[in-house]
Amino acid sequence: MELKINWQNKHIKQEFERYLNEHQAVLAEIVQGEVQFQNNLGWFDIDEWMSSEILECIKNFAEQVRKEADIFVLIGVGGSNNAARSVIKALATKNSPQVIYSGNTLSPHSLNQVLMQLEGKSVYIHCIAKNFETLEPGASFRVLRQYMEQRYGKDAYQRISVTGTTNSRLHALSQQEGYEFFAFPDNVGGRFTSLTSVGLLPMAVAGVNIEQLVLAAKQLRSRLLTNDTNNIAYQYAALRNFLYQKGYRIELLSSFEPQFNGFYKWWWQLFGESEGKKARGIYPSYAEYSEDLHSIGQFVQEGNPIIFETMLNVEKPNSQLLIKADTKIDNFDYLDGQDFWDINQVAYRATFEAHLETIPAIPELLLEAMDERAFGELFYFFQFSCYLSCKLMGVNPFDQPGVEAYKERMFKALKQF
Ligand code: PA5
Repeated sequence: MELKINWQNKHIKQEFERYLNEHQAVLAEIVQGEVQFQNNLGWFDIDEWMSSEILECIKNFAEQVRKEADIFVLIGVGGSNNAARSVIKALATKNSPQVIYSGNTLSPHSLNQVLMQLEGKSVYIHCIAKNFETLEPGASFRVLRQYMEQRYGKDAYQRISVTGTTNSRLHALSQQEGYEFFAFPDNVGGRFTSLTSVGLLPMAVAGVNIEQLVLAAKQLRSRLLTNDTNNIAYQYAALRNFLYQKGYRIELLSSFEPQFNGFYKWWWQLFGESEGKKARGIYPSYAEYSEDLHSIGQFVQEGNPIIFETMLNVEKPNSQLLIKADTKIDNFDYLDGQDFWDINQVAYRATFEAHLETIPAIPELLLEAMDERAFGELFYFFQFSCYLSCKLMGVNPFDQPGVEAYKERMFKALKQF
């Protein structure tokens, strides 16, 4: 992975270089290891929760499920399913169980749709919940557990597994019922769990090579642990804060590859929940080009200048498709013999150049290929950058006090039913 920051002019670039030098102490603190966040940094050293033994254990479990299951229902919400979902959407292999998501909504329509899809299929369910207090996964797990018990009787427990913190209610339930149990790291918040069993187990069930993914993240980690202004995570985090100081309030993560469309949501949660505090923060959003050039593109080019953009691009073609010449006149002859891959890249470059007319700087994240390595790098890069960015913004990256406001009201009302 490389980060290239493209500048509208050299004066802004020079101003940014001064910003980088002035704030480098923040990077130094992180690289040295911070005591103040030690209860939230279990993700920082990937080996802490993803040793080769744990990786092996996940792979063996996944192999078993892959042999037996037509459908794997993943019950979880937010950080407990976004990472897996993003990779599965992009890289799930053929001949893998179909992964269906539940526990992320309270809509009866959605849950009934899930139940309908299970009929006649070999079903496995897996619930991921840190403390097992969140309403959506708790309620869905109960319904799906009852479905499994009705359908598979006393053998149901063999098809039910969970990931929860040790000594949580979910852990106790798994011991009581004999469900396979995986540990949710108690020193990692949901949105930082991509490289732990929370993210990796469902990916492995979908046929993703999690070993490659973890290896790439570890290799990137060793590059990021340098107290140097060329550190790409520091450059990205610093650029966000530099543009924030200039009045930019929204960041669009964009690309021309729809395979990233699940990933945007993971990134959206990571930055939104980590940074949006104390009336500060950059609102994370995303654009799926080229489609969204026909909607939000107008605003990016000419609207209120509060948006900046981070673009993802993959270098190696993930697929190719030639456009053949045609005798019928459709006015698209200029495409004869061209490949969609190249056309998409031309559109990318044109968009990037047009947007750089109005946005002072556009960072591009360049990935070699659309594969496990790319996702391993992206997860670790953004988690590390987010931590840095929050420190530069002056907010705690690892808490989310604001989500309690609706929860207090909701639980009070539900208990009064
Ligand atoms: O990042 C976070 O901490 C949250 O988004 C959680 O992942 C989310 O609320 C789900 O929590 P739990 O796993 O406890 O159900």
